[in-house]
Amino acid sequence: MPQRYSIPERMTAVGFDAPGRAEVLKPVDRTVPQPMENEVLIKVAAAGVNRPDILQRRGFYAPPPGISDIPGLEVSGEVVAVGAGVDGAMIGQKVCALLAGGGYAEYAVAPVGQCLAVPAGYDMAEAAALPETLFTVWSNLFERAYVVEGDTVLVHGGTSGIGTMAISLCRLFGIKIIVTCGSDDKCAAALNLGATHAINYAASDFVEAVRDITDGKGVQAVLDMVGGDYVPRNLACMAEDGRHVSIATQRGVKAEISVLDVMQRRLTLTGSTLRPRPIVFKTLVAEELSRVVWPFVTEGKLRPVMDRAFPLAEAAAAHARMEAGEHVGKIVLVT
Ligand SMILES: NC(=O)c1ccc[n+]([C@@H]2O[C@H](COP(=O)([O-])OP(=O)(O)OC[C@H]3O[C@@H](n4cnc5c(N)ncnc54)[C@H](OP(=O)(O)O)[C@@H]3O)[C@@H](O)[C@H]2O)c1
Repeated sequence: MPQRYSIPERMTAVGFDAPGRAEVLKPVDRTVPQPMENEVLIKVAAAGVNRPDILQRRGFYAPPPGISDIPGLEVSGEVVAVGAGVDGAMIGQKVCALLAGGGYAEYAVAPVGQCLAVPAGYDMAEAAALPETLFTVWSNLFERAYVVEGDTVLVHGGTSGIGTMAISLCRLFGIKIIVTCGSDDKCAAALNLGATHAINYAASDFVEAVRDITDGKGVQAVLDMVGGDYVPRNLACMAEDGRHVSIATQRGVKAEISVLDVMQRRLTLTGSTLRPRPIVFKTLVAEELSRVVWPFVTEGKLRPVMDRAFPLAEAAAAHARMEAGEHVGKIVLVT
């Protein structure tokens, strides 16, 4: 294994003994992982915090088989070692990477196909905040719901990590984006970030608002992280041939919908979960992102919306901030 870095045997990571509240997160001593075939070892500069990490900490989202029990689905950092099959020239490169786990640590391994090169001068905390939302929004809104320039979409959670990435991508690709948020302040923040319209769902009925905004035509696609009773309401917001993509079920896993409505308006209901997808799928998404989206990153036209950075050891405080629901954009942990 070619390497020119001195890599310690042990590292500090953040984990938990038993599921529970944010306070269960604590620094833990672990062996530095070894990069296996087609993997790289990254000295982590920063790790993104995502809502699925909270579900994992609460005991509702176990890591897929064979994946580290340390939370963390995305990191940025420097490649310090490579496994078999990876070009040694990658050593020393700054990358950000999508992980299936293990990001809350000083070192993390990533499949080489899930790494994207961080452009010179790009802030490493910002780079860590890109992969999870970029892969998720791209593969769901652009691939599953195949939105194109001129379409109008509805995205809930407009100030979430996912929502803020959706706003950025829609702006870059000429798509009108209507978001919902739980307060006027969050609506103002979403509009400031480039949302075409923002609806305070606590103050008005988003179905009526979407009808008004679209002159009764409806939207071509909905990216839904709410589920439950939102699903029939989302369908009511959709134009004929509209696509509905579920990525979370914060209001429940069950929904009652009219199958006749689906037939008559030729609606498509789909969804996905990124974490358990195979490396080959994530690698294909990374290749597409690298061709189609990464030029915007390199030109500085796509930057994540940053909420706050916490030291890695304060992961519990970072989780508490996300659970309080006051953040706008991404929370990251820096080593
Ligand atoms: N399927 C996948 O592959 C995948 C991948 C990544 C993330 N996700 C999911 O995507 C969601 C966003 O993730 P994130 O990391 O961006 O989390 P986040 O920043 O914590 O955002 C969560 C958002 O959910 C909104 N929300 C919560 N309850 C709501 C309700 N009852 N009605 C409307 N909106 C509600 C909140 O908006 P308000 O504060 O305005 O209410 C908040 O903006 C999470 O549910 C996560 O599990 C799925």
